[in-house]
Amino acid sequence: MEPAGPGQHESPPEPSHDEPHLPAPTLWPLGFAIGIVVVLVGLVVNPEIVSPIGGAIAIVFGFLWARAATAELRGHAVVVEPERRELRETEAGEVGAALGEEAGAPPARGERFPRSRFLEGATLGLGGLIGGIVTLPVAGFAVLPPFLGQRRHEVDLGPISDFPEGSWFIATFLTDPAEGEVSRRTAFVRNNGVFNNQPSFTIISNRCAHLGCPVQANGPTGAILGKKTITEHTKNGVVKLEPVVPAGFGCPCHGGQYDTEGNRTAGPPVRALDRYAFEIRNGRLILLGTYSVSHVDGTGAQARIHKYKLAGPGEHVDGPEQWLYPLNPPHQ
Ligand code: FES
Repeated sequence: MEPAGPGQHESPPEPSHDEPHLPAPTLWPLGFAIGIVVVLVGLVVNPEIVSPIGGAIAIVFGFLWARAATAELRGHAVVVEPERRELRETEAGEVGAALGEEAGAPPARGERFPRSRFLEGATLGLGGLIGGIVTLPVAGFAVLPPFLGQRRHEVDLGPISDFPEGSWFIATFLTDPAEGEVSRRTAFVRNNGVFNNQPSFTIISNRCAHLGCPVQANGPTGAILGKKTITEHTKNGVVKLEPVVPAGFGCPCHGGQYDTEGNRTAGPPVRALDRYAFEIRNGRLILLGTYSVSHVDGTGAQARIHKYKLAGPGEHVDGPEQWLYPLNPPHQ
């Protein structure tokens, strides 16, 4: 082009026509993000059902996203909007001639796999790899521990001859002597006698069904009754059995009240007190794991216990409210 002469104004720079040829916008990243959100929400709401659904959504959309992003690298045509440029009159002749010359000419070497595509794929791949390396150990440390090392603790409370029929005892014991006093628990135990040729015991946990405070027996205990506390040395260490005559059980924290079957009678607790499963082994009373109870119909050996998997304090175990609580990791 000739330089502008004196008195002539330089024309403004012409717009460049070599913008990068960007891929068409796609919804796959949005679907991938939605899948990740569903996974995270599912970890709180329902890790067994919602999270896998979110994971499936993320995997499907992530695959589609990666496939679209690497389509050109893999030799597939990418459908994009046609490039159109206004053809100015002064250039029309030159461009037409150029197009005529180049028509049918093979693409220049390297155009099929442009460097920008390679860098884009490499960035996505490396980013995903680094993200996985960073995220997976953190997620593992955060999520896995509650699911590991869970084991049922059995507690030997001593011979069943220590429990006269119809009498209540406050039993204190260690669920795991290796852990020491932090594993000390309390249960209210009553021998209901024999029913259908099988010994029956009512064994109620003292963990309040509101927020977990230690529930107390509403009634006189050992010294007032003139009865001695029984001490047993078992493989779980020292077990103490203190006689009590409860009219019910009460919580000192917020006034929750329960009857002698553990049913809630007043206050904020949302269900009955938890109970211990048990078995009689070689004439000894063995406590197994605990389970939760919505309510109990009847009393003693003839009670019908509405039993559920162990839930946390304050959680409904029945009715529509039960769906408002996240699933608990397994625990005994
Ligand atoms: S913790 Fe027992 S009533 Fe609140």
